[in-house]
Amino acid sequence: MSVTKERAEGALDVARIRADFPILSRTVGDKPMVFLDSAATSQKPRQVIEAEREFYERHNANVHRGIYMLSEEATELYEGAREKLARFIGASDPATIVYTRGTTESINLVAHAWGRKFLTEGDEILLSDLEHHSNIVPWQLCVRDTGAVLRYIPLTDDGLLDLSDLGTLLNERTKIVSVSGMSNSLGTLPPIRQLADAAHAVGAVICVDGAQLVPHVPVDVTALDCDFLSISGHKMLGPTASGGLYARRELLEAMDPFMGGGHMIEEVHHDHSTWNEVPYKFEAGTMNIAQEVGLGAAVDYLEALGMDAVRAHEEEITGYAIDRMLEAGATIFGPKDVSVRGGAVSFWYKEVHPHDLATILNEEGVAVRAGHHCNQLVMRRFGVPATTRASFYVYNTNDEVDALIAALGKAEEVFGF
Ligand SMILES: Cc1ncc(COP(=O)(O)O)c(C=O)c1O
Repeated sequence: MSVTKERAEGALDVARIRADFPILSRTVGDKPMVFLDSAATSQKPRQVIEAEREFYERHNANVHRGIYMLSEEATELYEGAREKLARFIGASDPATIVYTRGTTESINLVAHAWGRKFLTEGDEILLSDLEHHSNIVPWQLCVRDTGAVLRYIPLTDDGLLDLSDLGTLLNERTKIVSVSGMSNSLGTLPPIRQLADAAHAVGAVICVDGAQLVPHVPVDVTALDCDFLSISGHKMLGPTASGGLYARRELLEAMDPFMGGGHMIEEVHHDHSTWNEVPYKFEAGTMNIAQEVGLGAAVDYLEALGMDAVRAHEEEITGYAIDRMLEAGATIFGPKDVSVRGGAVSFWYKEVHPHDLATILNEEGVAVRAGHHCNQLVMRRFGVPATTRASFYVYNTNDEVDALIAALGKAEEVFGF
């Protein structure tokens, strides 16, 4: 059954949500701005902007170090945000959240501090062809240093993970499976729990790239049984450079530090140092304090909406968009069934190159992304150099989908086919 416009507007009170996002009232020339690039970074509600501003106006000090009022307040807000983030992903122990600048830093942390310590020659790292470059390149660097080997789960023509050969790809040599929780180009939602069970059955650990998953789908690390999960705060209404890495506590205890410096140590001697307890062992130097406090406000905001409703809205608007785009003659890459995908929709519109298309859409006020989306393996799999990508979040409406479709019509006029 196709998704009607009426059905597609029930899960969230989008008009009320939009009022919280000052930037959404901007125009492009005389046209309303239609922001369809949340997979790159989300917009920020007033509540997040105010939390960060209030931090600087009233509580700014370095954390954990000062026995004075401002430092105590800053520490309380910073650690309070860690507790919120832990609760948001179902982690019972806040110490299992290491603050990072986002997924890129989180996966580099795992590849460096876990990979270089525990991988040796002949060990295997299992990735997939769906991965963002930030879940490929850190492992390539790790392989160079350790002699481990990379393996990749291929994709089906629908953009799902092809698990038909999983029994061979995942074997007693596999030490880690590192996979996307949700694809930023195809929208695919891989079966994480199934992969976690399969990884654990051969004694491997699983690392989930949660950059797209955590903002859009209710996540419970216990139910998913994942060992590592990266979080990108800037894609879930939080400030840029906010985010974290969840890891099982015993893994964090066993890992080496990532970066050395202040705060991550217990004692420093001329020839050696000892490490602070987790998670501080991984938080060297002055951290992104105000940003993580802002992320705490983003978590509050998403929890108030309810992550089930966030996901329902995404299924609805994505279903509506896919139906309308197909009707308009677009070619969509990735699964069409909204139950196995999120709201990043990659497409080609007739013969128009994505960069030309995005330029014309911008003239109509519609902001989409054109390029390889840091997914060159995906582009190669589907034989295209780039795609145009529209991506949706809590503040997008079906009227905005209609604006996208109307703008595609303009492109057709310009290119005359
Ligand atoms: C699936 C996926 N992984 C990783 C990243 C990188 O995340 P960050 O910008 O937080 O480093 C992105 C960002 O586009 C992404 O979509």
